[in-house]
Amino acid sequence: DWTTGNVIDEQVEAIRELVGDKRAICGLSGGVDSAVAAALVQKAIGSQLTCVYVDHGLMRKGETEQVEKDFVAATGVQLKVVDAQERFLAALKGVSDPEEKRKIIGREFIRVFEQAQAEIIADEGPAVEFLVQGTLYPDVVESGGGTGTANIKSHHNVGGLPEDLEFKLIEPLRKLFKDEVRMVGQELGLPEEIVQRQPFPGPGLGIRIVGEVTKERLDLLREADAIAREELTAAGLDRDIWQCPVVLLADVRSVGVQGDGRTYGHPIVLRPVSSEDAMTADWSRLPYDVLAKISTRITNEVRDVNRVVLDVTSKPPGTIEWE
Ligand code: XMP
Repeated sequence: DWTTGNVIDEQVEAIRELVGDKRAICGLSGGVDSAVAAALVQKAIGSQLTCVYVDHGLMRKGETEQVEKDFVAATGVQLKVVDAQERFLAALKGVSDPEEKRKIIGREFIRVFEQAQAEIIADEGPAVEFLVQGTLYPDVVESGGGTGTANIKSHHNVGGLPEDLEFKLIEPLRKLFKDEVRMVGQELGLPEEIVQRQPFPGPGLGIRIVGEVTKERLDLLREADAIAREELTAAGLDRDIWQCPVVLLADVRSVGVQGDGRTYGHPIVLRPVSSEDAMTADWSRLPYDVLAKISTRITNEVRDVNRVVLDVTSKPPGTIEWE
C-alpha cells in the first residue's frame, strides 16, 4: 500500500544502507524537489549530509534568502552557499540555442559541485561519495530513461550530467510524481511555503529568456516574474495553477506607446498552466482582472517591457517551459 509513511521509511532505510559511514552532498535549488530529497536524506543520515546551494544567478527574486533562512531553519541542515553568478554568465555568453543553454547550465552546475565537493572533502575527509538529486518520475520518463520514450528535452537533473561525474547518485524521488513529493515533504515537517512551492526548472530563468542570457535581461525577467507571482498569490490562485512560467522574448521587440512617446520594447509571456504531473498540461483560465493587473503592473514597472501576452497552448503540443 502506498502511503507517505511507507515511502519515507523505505527510502530512509535504503539510503542508510547505501551510504553507510560515507558522506553525501545535496544541491538545493530552492524548489520543492531538492528540498524534499535533502530533507529525506537528512532524516536518514543526519550530519553526514552537507547541502550546497549554487547561486547561479538564474534564480528568482528572494529565492536565495528562502533557502538560506527557511529551509535551514526547518531542517537544521548543514549548508554551504556558492556564489557562481559570474561563472554562469560567462559560460552562457553568446548562446541562444535552448539545448545548448541547458547543457551548459547542467555542466557548469556539476563543475561547481565538484569544486564544492573538493572543498568539503578538504574539511571533512574523502568519505564524501554521494550526490543527492531531486529527480522525479516525469523527469526520468521524458529524458528517455524510463519507458523508452523519445528524449524531448535534456533535463538538467538527468540528461545534463557529464561523463566524468565522480559522485554516486542518490535519487530518492525517482518513482514519485509531484503531488506525492509534496505529501512526503509535508510528512517530513517542511514549511508550507516550501512544500507548496510551484515547480521551477533546474536551469532556472536561463531557459525563460528566449535569446542570449545576460545580467540585464535576467534582472528584467526577475522583476516581471516577481510581479506575476505576487499578484497570483494575492488573488489566491497559487493552489489552482500548477505553475506560471514568465518568459522574456529577448530577441523580439514591438512598437508601443507610453506617455507621449513611442516605445520599442520586449514582450513578456505569461504561461499559467494546470496539470497533475507536468506530463500533460492545459493553459489556466485565469480571471481577466488578475491578468489585467499583472499586465498593467509589468508594463508600468519593468523597464523595456511594453507588452504582455498570454500563452494559450496546452501540452502537448507546447511544453510548459518555452525552452
Ligand atoms: P516541460 O517544459 O518539459 O516541463 O513541459 C515539465 C516540467 O518540468 C520542469 N522542468 C524542469 N525541471 N529540470 C527540472 O528539474 C529541468 O531541466 C527542467 N525543465 C523543465 C518544468 O518547469 C515543468 O514543471
